[in-house]
Amino acid sequence: MTFCTEDATPETPAPILLDLRREAQAQQPDLSALPPLSEPERQMAIRTWRGRMVNEHISAQVWAGLVHSLMRAGAPPAALAELPKAIADELRHAEQCAGVVLALGGVPVAPLPALEPVPLHEEVAPIEGAVRNVISVGCMSETIAVSIIRAEHAELDDGPLATLLGEILADEVSHARFGWRSLGLLMPRLDAAARARTSRYLVDAFAHQVQHEVPRLPRGGVIRPELGQAGVCDGGFARSLFVDTIQTVIVPGLTQAGLDAQAAWDEAKAETAAVFNR
Ligand SMILES: [Fe+2]
Ligand SMILES: [Fe+2]
Repeated sequence: MTFCTEDATPETPAPILLDLRREAQAQQPDLSALPPLSEPERQMAIRTWRGRMVNEHISAQVWAGLVHSLMRAGAPPAALAELPKAIADELRHAEQCAGVVLALGGVPVAPLPALEPVPLHEEVAPIEGAVRNVISVGCMSETIAVSIIRAEHAELDDGPLATLLGEILADEVSHARFGWRSLGLLMPRLDAAARARTSRYLVDAFAHQVQHEVPRLPRGGVIRPELGQAGVCDGGFARSLFVDTIQTVIVPGLTQAGLDAQAAWDEAKAETAAVFNR
């Protein structure tokens, strides 16, 4: 028997890769009508779509986490029924984005970041925890996704990428609506104390949105229209849309649901001001 002493140190685990090369083959749009891009622009477009591919794939896991959170809370079937479709939609969106990466000449393989499990909020009753997750996922993340994708879609002339982004947008609209409908179903189950705690939770939920979304929207300066046609958008514009959506859609929606959303957003905004300056 031989003993190998050189392998005594544990190896760093290899990153998990999201590899959608096979799926992308069937999803490639015909991009022959796209205006010509310089090589750095083409690489930027590939990075944009590869980033979307990863985000969409992770969204499937987030919706899947809601199944457990809502089931353990005894949520009504109407608040659960559309979850399988949302999961399937997000997986398909990831494949569609992978198809664009491939059509642009890129490789639809990317490291999969560590997945954050959907929290159960065990310090409160299951129904209250489920409300928190519905707010965070359906009412916040998906509503923000709708407004940003709608703006990106408006930048595209008629063409394969407009069709593709239009399909994704329609799904995101249905996800956001489902989130708001589910909130309407669950809120009557919270008593006054639970509502007050949920209003406090909104501070963390808004702050999480800022910390999570804003760094993904880097200010890229002026984007050439040709690059805009390839689906690359100006992060600075997307940031202002992000804030507008919270202020004009999400805060009023949560207020209508009986929560003190404006105070929570004001507090979260003050807490995360530095994130916007990066
Ligand atoms: Fe999606
Ligand atoms: Fe979605």
